[in-house]
Amino acid sequence: MMRQISGQHLVIETAEDTFATTPWAKALAADPALSAVYGEFYAQLNSPMFKSLPYFLKKRGFKSPSDVNDCNWQYWKGTSNNLFADLSTNPAMANDFHAAMQCHSKYNLTPWPEVYPTSTVVSALKPDRALVVDIGGSKGHDLEKFRLCHPDIPDGSLILQDLPDVVKDVQVDPAISVQAYDFFTPQPVKGARIYFMHNVLHDWPDDSAITILKNVASAMEKGYSKLLIHESLISRVNPLARVTVSDITMMACLAAKERTEIEWGEVIRNSGLRIVRIWRPPQSVESVIEVELD
Ligand SMILES: C[S@@+](CC[C@H](N)C(=O)[O-])C[C@H]1O[C@@H](n2cnc3c(N)ncnc32)[C@H](O)[C@@H]1O
Repeated sequence: MMRQISGQHLVIETAEDTFATTPWAKALAADPALSAVYGEFYAQLNSPMFKSLPYFLKKRGFKSPSDVNDCNWQYWKGTSNNLFADLSTNPAMANDFHAAMQCHSKYNLTPWPEVYPTSTVVSALKPDRALVVDIGGSKGHDLEKFRLCHPDIPDGSLILQDLPDVVKDVQVDPAISVQAYDFFTPQPVKGARIYFMHNVLHDWPDDSAITILKNVASAMEKGYSKLLIHESLISRVNPLARVTVSDITMMACLAAKERTEIEWGEVIRNSGLRIVRIWRPPQSVESVIEVELD
């Protein structure tokens, strides 16, 4: 085993039967979320899901799937549940899934407050209003990034929303309050300064994405609230491999996809919203689409 992983440069062989760690190996030992990703997440979820994909696509005449309840996930698992319904009945798999979200956020990405100038929103906060509502925020890692950039914000001014089983035991900083919420129902937090969604809309086909967005729009205050959509925009020519991998992953588990700038524009417009600006610094794979009420 050690010869194999040193051949892949994951540890360094310094002499016969003697190995030095690399930063990657050290992180794997130090971070249980990272070892969950490289262990169970890949073994039980990601890899088997991709094994069945070619057979599913062949069976469906190589058409892009668009029904989250009738895609490769159900074909592979022999279930009628979609991915998120399955996670809610399988705590071990849910733990590995959210570990993967946490690690993607922690190790792969430019923190979103470095993509979007968050200081502009903090300075214009109205009293008694939520500052940031992270919709579908998993374990709160994106709000934690915001808090680290703005350590003086009041307790409870950041709101983490996700499905009840995801947030029930979550441990967060006092700046963050936790709310069980299904984003297919009306948004309960009205007139927040920022509604934030990271890698949420890429999980859903257009009709569902529009339903989710309309629920956000109905809670926004015109001229004050902003929606920040933190996602990859897939280029129509020479797309990045990291984005095409994510595109195929969304197809394999949710009949969804990464969107081009034109496709994002259509979904946002059809939800009663408009794009103010797309923030895409060269160092960041994912962009922030700044959106307001139309
Ligand atoms: C791809 S993950 C992204 C998580 C997090 N925003 C991040 O970027 O790490 C999608 C999130 O949407 C949540 N989710 C799925 N269906 C939901 C629903 N109906 N209502 C609220 N959250 C939901 C999942 O539990 C999950 O945390």
